[in-house]
Amino acid sequence: MLPPELATQLRLAFDDDRDAETFLLRLERYGPDLVESLQMVYGDRAAGLLDGLIEVMLHAFHNRPPDLRRLDEARLLRPDWLQTPDMVGYVAYTDRFAGTLQGVRGRLDYLKGLGVRYLHLMPLLKPREGENDGGYAVQDYRAVRPDLGSMDDLSALARDLHAEGMSLVLDLVLNHVAREHEWAQKARAGDPRYRAYFHVYPDRTQPDAYEATLPEVFPEFAPGNFTWDEALGGWVWTTFNTYQWDLNWANPEVFQEFVDIILYLANRGVDVFRLDAIAFLWKRLGTDCQNQPEVHWLTRALRAATRIVAPAVAFKAEAIVAPAQLIHYLGTRAHHGKVSDMAYHNSLMVQLWSSLASRDTTLFREALQAFSPKPTNTTWGMYVRCHDDIGWAISDEDAARAGLNGEAHRRFLSDFYSGVFPGTFARGLVFGFNAQTGDRRISGTAASLAGLEMALETGDEVGVSTAIARLRLLHAVILGFGGVPLLYMGDELALLNDYGFQNVPEHAADNRWVHRPQMDWALAAQAREDVNSPAGRMYAWLQKLIQARAATPHLHASVESRAVYSPDPRVLLLRRDHPLGSFVGVYNFSHEDVSFPTEVLREHLGDQAEDRLGGGRLTFARATLRLEPYRAMWLVQPA
Ligand code: GLC
Repeated sequence: MLPPELATQLRLAFDDDRDAETFLLRLERYGPDLVESLQMVYGDRAAGLLDGLIEVMLHAFHNRPPDLRRLDEARLLRPDWLQTPDMVGYVAYTDRFAGTLQGVRGRLDYLKGLGVRYLHLMPLLKPREGENDGGYAVQDYRAVRPDLGSMDDLSALARDLHAEGMSLVLDLVLNHVAREHEWAQKARAGDPRYRAYFHVYPDRTQPDAYEATLPEVFPEFAPGNFTWDEALGGWVWTTFNTYQWDLNWANPEVFQEFVDIILYLANRGVDVFRLDAIAFLWKRLGTDCQNQPEVHWLTRALRAATRIVAPAVAFKAEAIVAPAQLIHYLGTRAHHGKVSDMAYHNSLMVQLWSSLASRDTTLFREALQAFSPKPTNTTWGMYVRCHDDIGWAISDEDAARAGLNGEAHRRFLSDFYSGVFPGTFARGLVFGFNAQTGDRRISGTAASLAGLEMALETGDEVGVSTAIARLRLLHAVILGFGGVPLLYMGDELALLNDYGFQNVPEHAADNRWVHRPQMDWALAAQAREDVNSPAGRMYAWLQKLIQARAATPHLHASVESRAVYSPDPRVLLLRRDHPLGSFVGVYNFSHEDVSFPTEVLREHLGDQAEDRLGGGRLTFARATLRLEPYRAMWLVQPA
């Protein structure tokens, strides 16, 4: 219960009794969480924050448009809206996909045709001019990048999306702002209030002490984690590029600023916030300054505040961290159900490429089996590729259990995907070479990494088919895993690497741009007509996967996918136990025909199964089942 005096006082802020009731009920529900989380982070300073926060929340509540209030109610009635098997995401750069936000509104039919229900538009808030890390250096959170449109265009797009049953996902860059952001500018002008928004040190003593245990995110083009700024007269913390200034979340004012920003954007129609680089928020001497406990309390506080005003809104954690850490972003122990609704399954993405290169799924299985189960009310973001590089996040322990040497395997994968391993099919580029650790991450589109670029170049028709088969397999795994599959723009057409980035001055040093091509609308049109072209085969397969998925309730994200024993290391088996019956995903990661013992499948499924991908019923009468190269099956127990 809220203290009666507080409730009486708050009621005064409302003209409408029902609105007052709604706000007070939500405050009663999430307020304690907000207060506790703030106390855990800010201690005694938390109390001083509450009045200001309530004011921010009231303001946003009053400004929440009627259509979004309705969405709040609708989603409260469907708390699993991000978990249903018809939820499919698409990720695109506004300009590269459709020119402008208006342009995106004109392309919704395309997305609908594919079955997309969730659209993540890559950073589109006003970034600094020139180099801006693909928009991840935000200058103004309340303005849209001018060449893409305006805030009103964003709201209009959100309304169109909602009318089509789709949601809008935006990045919330909360670890850092651009050096040109107003806060940084004021700090540079000598305002002490804003200097305290950042981590600034007068000399190298503290930075050196931190550097002793800090990794480097961009060792080639942004070495080190601190940047000297003449105007500040100090070293400012810059984990990423020198122009991205890390915020000081130990300052409660920073917290309040972000509540205000989140609610402002939520009222513009944003449904899901991708919490960019969330792992880095809290700094602690002697650590790698990632995954600190305060990060989870802060997320929890942000989420509680958001739910009071905009319960339709969900959070997605972008935490590219070790599996043991990742699970905390979905809420373990006291944080269960109280932090992010969704997190990227980076490990699965890495294992897809690892198994494709080695034609062996033992490590895949070991890595998945080492994962703790996720809370049932959360969901994974599944992806084959994204706009970032692929880092070989494979632990030595998992590798050892699979009979591999972690270091050697990571080296093999870098060689394989950068195209230097003899016999490789991949065309990728080395990203983030770290001379000290020898680490080499990889850039490249899914299609180029899967062999399509090389096969097309050499006129190798069989190679083309094989590359498409690989891409189809990878997508079958992510769509068959449960969670929200995130399709990266162009992958539905098997778009190749775009080497043109080398000619764009602000992109040339960062080869992640090789896998951020322009949408090819001519190819998209052709793909829908010529189903035998590589793009056509890919597009048709994705449509099929998406339809099959929507018709398979077993893929609801509340259920876990478990990697189970497979007698043939080339074949991955993923089992889901749904009340309707078991589901087994069967995936041949090799270029060979495999005779797979049916006995194992019988153990999981009984005497018969339906293949939701191939169609038809299988009786496991024979001792073996033939799996063609890169074959994927989604088997369920017949109804
Ligand atoms: C995230 C983004 C990446 C960006 C970084 C810094 O990891 O995905 O593209 O460089 O954050 O904002």
